[in-house]
Amino acid sequence: MKLLYLLLLLLTFLLSHETGADEIIGGKESRPHSRPYMAFLDIKHCNNWSSCGGFLIRSDFVMTAAICEGDFISVKLGAHNINKTEETWQILKVKQQFLHPEYNARKFLNDIMLLKLEKKANLTTAVGILPLPSSSNSVLPEEECLAAGWGRRGLKPPRSDTLQEVELRLMNPSDCKDFGNFDERSQLCVGTPNSRKSVFRGFSGEPLVCSGVAQGIAAYGKVDIKSPSVFTRIAHYSSWINEILKAN
Ligand SMILES: *[C@@H]1O[C@H](CO)[C@@H](O)[C@H](O)[C@H]1NC(C)=O
Ligand SMILES: *[C@@H]1O[C@H](CO)[C@@H](O)[C@H](O)[C@H]1NC(C)=O
Ligand SMILES: *[C@@H]1O[C@H](CO)[C@@H](O)[C@H](O)[C@H]1NC(C)=O
Repeated sequence: MKLLYLLLLLLTFLLSHETGADEIIGGKESRPHSRPYMAFLDIKHCNNWSSCGGFLIRSDFVMTAAICEGDFISVKLGAHNINKTEETWQILKVKQQFLHPEYNARKFLNDIMLLKLEKKANLTTAVGILPLPSSSNSVLPEEECLAAGWGRRGLKPPRSDTLQEVELRLMNPSDCKDFGNFDERSQLCVGTPNSRKSVFRGFSGEPLVCSGVAQGIAAYGKVDIKSPSVFTRIAHYSSWINEILKAN
């Protein structure tokens, strides 16, 4: 059953020739609620519903990718299986979306957004905050990090109902030179060198966590299994983030 699932995921991946979303390679199911900062976003945009990942950075603020903007966003916290109601769930509406003013959807630049929730989430064992890096906090190539997510909905089924996670490694910026618009200052090049494991597509907006700190936001990737993915480098945006958090 598990093998079939992985094969289906791999097939889904091979059949989908879409860029603009990250890839998660060789994932496994997370222990339920062991990543309490994870947020699942339901987004309504021009009468279409889509989904993204995100993560809680203050009891009333979620960080995600700018590509996840919408007319209406609802945030689900405390979830493991997003398709099975759990007592730990807290569902909150987004009151205000703070899109980065220099977000460039065509070039995938400055793909970062902050979401102010209608009210504070209750911090519990299943709902918690992920610390942000300071502006001077830099991650280095070879560092092992973790990405988590629910796979992708809205493309082709199946997606994962339960939270999956995978260890990824920071690569040299030169490993992302094939991405024409890769910007070393504001983006991270992330991958699993030499891995031939199965693949599933993650959601934009999901965090890259290194030593317990949010360092990246899943931005985009390629169809080629072995190529790295691009994450937005959070530390680059520290002053913009702090300004918004302070004023709201
Ligand atoms: C919404 O869905 C409709 C029908 O599938 C499609 O024609 C339209 O382009 C979509 N709009 C957006 C903004 O994706
Ligand atoms: C849960 O998943 C099943 C099978 O994929 C689907 O039929 C059902 O509609 C889903 N339920 C919800 C609440 O999304
Ligand atoms: C937080 O807990 C209070 C008291 O139990 C409850 O009234 C409130 O609805 C909870 N908030 C959320 C976001 O679930």
